[in-house]
Amino acid sequence: ASILVINGPNLNMLGRREPEIYGSETLGDVIERLEMLADRFDIRLRDFQSNSESAIIERIHQAMDDGTDYILINPAAYTHTSVAIRDALATVQIPFIEIHLSNIHKREPFRHHSYFSDLADGVIAGLGTLGYELAFQAAVNKLIK
Ligand code: DQA
Repeated sequence: ASILVINGPNLNMLGRREPEIYGSETLGDVIERLEMLADRFDIRLRDFQSNSESAIIERIHQAMDDGTDYILINPAAYTHTSVAIRDALATVQIPFIEIHLSNIHKREPFRHHSYFSDLADGVIAGLGTLGYELAFQAAVNKLIK
């Protein structure tokens, strides 16, 4: 089975970006841990980060034909703005979990709404980088069943 992890804008700066909100670990640290988990469960892990909405949309389209069974996505700021990325996920019909490092509901009102949550299998917010591992485990459980 194959899981695709997508990270949106500014997440390449993880570890250096508002560490009081997002923590001190880098995206590389997070992906490395997911790769270890993937090895253990014999899952093929692919990861993609982009600051560009169009690149994220194109990567999601590609997932329709590259054998991706499941998507873990932190759309970052596009969570609150992007009907286009939402539509891409609806187009490919690949199940996904939405992840946020911070608890978006505890933050500014403009972060409370997500264009993704009503399509997602599940949503994880506020648990920091652990959220990625928990989402990965949930995805594996669904894929194994
Ligand atoms: C985020 C929350 C978003 O509101 C924000 O724009 C981000 C990161 C999170 O992981 O907590 O860039 O998705």
